[in-house]
Amino acid sequence: MSKDITLNVNGIDHHVNIQGNETLLKVLRDKLGLTAAKEGCGAGECGACAVIYNGSPASSCLILAVEAEGVEILTLEGITPKDHLHPIQQAFIDKGAVQCGFCTPGMIITTYSLLKSNPDPSEDEIKKAISGNLCRCTGYVQIIEAIREAARRLKRVKGRRK
Ligand code: FES
Ligand code: FES
Repeated sequence: MSKDITLNVNGIDHHVNIQGNETLLKVLRDKLGLTAAKEGCGAGECGACAVIYNGSPASSCLILAVEAEGVEILTLEGITPKDHLHPIQQAFIDKGAVQCGFCTPGMIITTYSLLKSNPDPSEDEIKKAISGNLCRCTGYVQIIEAIREAARRLKRVKGRRK
Protein backbone atom coordinates (compact mmCIF):
# COMPACT_ATOMS: atom_id res chain seq x y z
CA MET A 1 0.00 0.00 0.00
CA SER A 2 1.33 3.44 -0.86
CA LYS A 3 1.53 6.33 1.58
CA ASP A 4 2.46 10.01 1.45
CA ILE A 5 5.17 10.91 3.92
CA THR A 6 7.56 13.79 4.59
CA LEU A 7 11.24 13.04 4.96
CA ASN A 8 13.64 15.62 6.32
CA VAL A 9 16.85 15.07 4.39
CA ASN A 10 19.81 17.44 4.52
CA GLY A 11 17.65 20.04 6.22
CA ILE A 12 14.90 20.01 3.58
CA ASP A 13 11.43 18.49 3.88
CA HIS A 14 10.63 16.21 0.95
CA HIS A 15 7.08 15.01 0.35
CA VAL A 16 7.17 11.56 -1.18
CA ASN A 17 4.79 8.78 -1.99
CA ILE A 18 6.22 5.48 -0.85
CA GLN A 19 5.33 1.85 -0.60
CA GLY A 20 5.17 0.47 2.93
CA ASN A 21 8.02 -1.94 2.28
CA GLU A 22 10.42 0.55 0.63
CA THR A 23 13.67 1.14 2.45
CA LEU A 24 15.03 4.57 3.23
CA LEU A 25 17.98 3.74 0.96
CA LYS A 26 15.69 3.06 -1.99
CA VAL A 27 13.69 6.24 -1.45
CA LEU A 28 16.83 8.37 -1.08
CA ARG A 29 18.28 6.98 -4.29
CA ASP A 30 15.24 6.42 -6.50
CA LYS A 31 12.84 9.14 -5.38
CA LEU A 32 15.07 11.92 -4.08
CA GLY A 33 17.99 11.40 -6.47
CA LEU A 34 20.48 11.24 -3.61
CA THR A 35 22.74 8.48 -4.84
CA ALA A 36 25.77 8.80 -2.56
CA ALA A 37 24.46 6.05 -0.28
CA LYS A 38 24.91 2.75 -2.12
CA GLU A 39 23.33 -0.66 -1.90
CA GLY A 40 26.13 -3.11 -1.17
CA CYS A 41 24.95 -6.07 0.87
CA GLY A 42 21.41 -4.85 1.49
CA ALA A 43 21.60 -6.57 4.86
CA GLY A 44 23.21 -4.15 7.31
CA GLU A 45 26.69 -5.59 7.01
CA CYS A 46 28.81 -3.46 4.69
CA GLY A 47 28.21 0.22 5.57
CA ALA A 48 27.86 1.32 1.93
CA CYS A 49 24.38 2.71 2.61
CA ALA A 50 25.34 4.71 5.72
CA VAL A 51 23.56 7.96 6.48
CA ILE A 52 23.44 10.07 9.62
CA TYR A 53 20.09 9.29 11.23
CA ASN A 54 19.10 11.47 14.17
CA GLY A 55 22.78 12.26 14.73
CA SER A 56 24.25 8.75 14.46
CA PRO A 57 25.41 6.66 11.52
CA ALA A 58 22.87 4.07 10.43
CA SER A 59 22.39 1.57 7.62
CA SER A 60 19.65 3.02 5.44
CA CYS A 61 19.09 -0.40 3.85
CA LEU A 62 17.69 -1.62 7.18
CA ILE A 63 15.33 1.31 7.79
CA LEU A 64 11.88 1.45 6.26
CA ALA A 65 11.21 4.87 4.76
CA VAL A 66 7.94 5.03 6.64
CA GLU A 67 9.86 4.79 9.92
CA ALA A 68 12.05 7.73 8.96
CA GLU A 69 9.28 10.33 9.03
CA GLY A 70 10.14 13.00 11.62
CA VAL A 71 13.80 11.96 11.74
CA GLU A 72 16.66 14.25 10.70
CA ILE A 73 18.58 12.48 7.94
CA LEU A 74 21.91 13.63 6.62
CA THR A 75 23.51 12.13 3.52
CA LEU A 76 26.90 12.66 1.98
CA GLU A 77 25.31 15.22 -0.36
CA GLY A 78 24.30 17.24 2.69
CA ILE A 79 27.80 17.14 4.14
CA THR A 80 29.56 18.21 0.95
CA PRO A 81 29.85 22.01 0.54
CA LYS A 82 28.57 23.34 -2.81
CA ASP A 83 31.85 24.76 -4.11
CA HIS A 84 34.57 22.63 -2.54
CA LEU A 85 35.14 19.32 -0.84
CA HIS A 86 34.63 18.74 2.84
CA PRO A 87 37.98 18.52 4.70
CA ILE A 88 37.30 14.82 5.31
CA GLN A 89 36.87 14.18 1.59
CA GLN A 90 40.01 16.16 0.79
CA ALA A 91 42.00 14.25 3.43
CA PHE A 92 40.86 10.94 1.93
CA ILE A 93 42.09 12.10 -1.49
CA ASP A 94 45.36 13.50 -0.18
CA LYS A 95 46.17 10.33 1.76
CA GLY A 96 45.29 7.97 -1.09
CA ALA A 97 42.38 6.54 0.90
CA VAL A 98 39.66 6.84 -1.73
CA GLN A 99 38.57 3.36 -2.67
CA CYS A 100 35.61 2.59 -4.89
CA GLY A 101 32.38 4.56 -5.12
CA PHE A 102 30.59 1.92 -3.08
CA CYS A 103 32.58 1.87 0.13
CA THR A 104 34.02 5.41 0.22
CA PRO A 105 30.77 7.39 0.77
CA GLY A 106 29.95 5.23 3.78
CA MET A 107 33.45 5.67 5.18
CA ILE A 108 33.16 9.44 4.87
CA ILE A 109 29.80 9.38 6.67
CA THR A 110 31.26 7.27 9.47
CA THR A 111 34.28 9.56 9.74
CA TYR A 112 32.05 12.63 9.86
CA SER A 113 30.04 11.15 12.69
CA LEU A 114 33.13 9.96 14.59
CA LEU A 115 34.89 13.33 14.42
CA LYS A 116 31.74 15.18 15.48
CA SER A 117 31.55 13.21 18.70
CA ASN A 118 35.27 12.62 19.15
CA PRO A 119 37.47 15.24 17.42
CA ASP A 120 40.72 13.54 18.46
CA PRO A 121 40.20 9.78 18.20
CA SER A 122 42.90 7.23 18.96
CA GLU A 123 43.83 4.62 16.37
CA ASP A 124 41.75 2.04 18.24
CA GLU A 125 38.76 4.37 18.29
CA ILE A 126 39.12 4.96 14.55
CA LYS A 127 39.36 1.22 13.89
CA LYS A 128 36.28 0.56 16.02
CA ALA A 129 34.32 3.34 14.29
CA ILE A 130 35.01 2.05 10.78
CA SER A 131 34.67 -1.62 11.65
CA GLY A 132 31.20 -1.58 10.05
CA ASN A 133 32.51 -0.21 6.74
CA LEU A 134 33.69 -3.21 4.81
CA CYS A 135 36.10 -3.23 1.91
CA ARG A 136 37.98 -6.37 1.09
CA CYS A 137 40.17 -4.51 -1.38
CA THR A 138 42.27 -2.57 1.13
CA GLY A 139 44.30 -2.96 4.28
CA TYR A 140 42.77 0.20 5.77
CA VAL A 141 46.17 1.82 6.50
CA GLN A 142 45.55 4.84 4.28
CA ILE A 143 41.98 5.14 5.49
CA ILE A 144 43.09 5.35 9.12
CA GLU A 145 45.76 7.89 8.17
CA ALA A 146 43.17 9.92 6.24
CA ILE A 147 40.85 9.99 9.25
CA ARG A 148 43.72 11.20 11.45
CA GLU A 149 44.56 13.86 8.90
CA ALA A 150 40.90 14.90 8.66
CA ALA A 151 40.83 15.26 12.46
CA ARG A 152 43.90 17.51 12.33
CA ARG A 153 42.39 19.65 9.55
CA LEU A 154 39.02 20.00 11.24
CA LYS A 155 40.74 21.06 14.46
CA ARG A 156 42.64 23.74 12.53
CA VAL A 157 39.41 24.97 10.90
CA LYS A 158 37.72 25.11 14.33
CA GLY A 159 40.73 26.94 15.80
CA ARG A 160 40.54 29.59 13.07
CA ARG A 161 36.83 30.17 13.78
CA LYS A 162 37.46 30.93 17.51
S1 FES B 1 23.88 -2.00 1.89
FE1 FES B 1 23.30 -1.39 3.85
S2 FES B 1 24.81 -2.23 5.15
FE2 FES B 1 25.30 -3.00 3.19
S1 FES C 1 34.58 -2.14 -1.58
FE1 FES C 1 35.19 -0.27 -2.39
S2 FES C 1 37.29 -0.58 -2.90
FE2 FES C 1 36.71 -2.35 -1.81
